[in-house]
Amino acid sequence: MVTTAAVIVAAGRGTRAGSHGTVPKQYLPLAGEPVLAHSLRVLTAHPQIDVALVVYNLEDADLYQAATARFSHRLLPPVEGGDTRQASVLAGLEALAARAPDRVLIHDAARPFLTAELVGDVVAALDMNAGAIAAEPVSDTLKQAAADGTIVRTIDRTGLWRAQTPQAFRYDVILDAHRRAATAGRFDFTDDAGLAEWAGLPVRLVASSGRNMKLTTAADMELAERLLAPAAAFLEPRNGTGFDVHRFAAGDHVWLCGVKIAHTHGLEGHSDADVGLHALTDALLGAIGDGDIGQHFPPSDPAWRGAPSRIFLADAAARVAKRGGRISNVDVTFLCEAPKIGPHRQAMREAIAEILGIGVERVGIKATTMEGLGYIGRREGIAAMASATVLLPNA
Ligand code: CTP
Ligand code: MG
Repeated sequence: MVTTAAVIVAAGRGTRAGSHGTVPKQYLPLAGEPVLAHSLRVLTAHPQIDVALVVYNLEDADLYQAATARFSHRLLPPVEGGDTRQASVLAGLEALAARAPDRVLIHDAARPFLTAELVGDVVAALDMNAGAIAAEPVSDTLKQAAADGTIVRTIDRTGLWRAQTPQAFRYDVILDAHRRAATAGRFDFTDDAGLAEWAGLPVRLVASSGRNMKLTTAADMELAERLLAPAAAFLEPRNGTGFDVHRFAAGDHVWLCGVKIAHTHGLEGHSDADVGLHALTDALLGAIGDGDIGQHFPPSDPAWRGAPSRIFLADAAARVAKRGGRISNVDVTFLCEAPKIGPHRQAMREAIAEILGIGVERVGIKATTMEGLGYIGRREGIAAMASATVLLPNA
């Protein structure tokens, strides 16, 4: 099987962004996440990337830990970079020597707009070439200037491209080229394609999709922040509610919000009769206007006999994700005289958070008795109501 590694260079000092003495640009927050985390999110989740490592500056050890903690299970230990980008890339390549991947994709931490599509395009182009890099055709007219700023001549932009990252290569070939450049005393390559060119390797240009800008100046940081800001503004909150009730029957336990609780009775129902998860599933479906639980999982279908209700909730969450939505919070209220919900509240919150892939702090669980009134008060069953707020792109 062909293996592909990613090397993310993040050892620079960001002097042009004015970050000397302060936080280097790759660790500055962008849309609530460090710049470095944006490309790591794409690379560590990409089906064609097997392993990733970051080249960092020892001075940034704490910043590195904070920015990468949630990806740490998908990252090799970081390695220390050098004085130039070229030296940092070589350090990253050397650190992979024992693993000897077939291909390596080198990416600047300072390019947070990396997309999975671009990674796929660059890796695909590598099948036919020793190297392939993301790039954009030059669209401005190019001028050469004299020292005083007056134009000397206009340069024909036909065939001119701006090199970006990711830059992908056959691993052994680019490692060898980097080693030879270092031995030859050449430390002036600002990208790996330039070094590959010096080594005589054919490298293919891949037109980058989307905006794949590098953050170089403080103005770039501001622009990037503004480019990402509208994405949040165009998410529209949608609310849904759900209600369900199940009758008590013979038994010694009930399932409530994914937690098995010993009880004097069981609950009657086709599935595991988890009245809390049923109400919550309907709340989520309601928020996206996508029918109800009975429509997607008909009680008449024997497939759902005794089924764990987490299946229904996970399906509703998948429907939200398919619409490009995010679950903002969910809230369940039980109406029952017994069993007591309080002791199980935290376990229920954790079960729901796990099924929905959201933080526990976004899950509410509450309960009330009916003061002996009505069918709940007579202990004939348990009811649950739920609400869910979903953020949907308002296309
Ligand atoms: N880089 C690196 N090691 C270096 C220099 C740069 O790993 N010695 C990385 C940077 O962290 C960045 C990428 O290479 O992700 C592109 O470099 P650049 O945009 O030039 O970043 P800096 O060198 O940090 O910025 P500046 O040149 O303004 O100081
Ligand atoms: Mg630099």
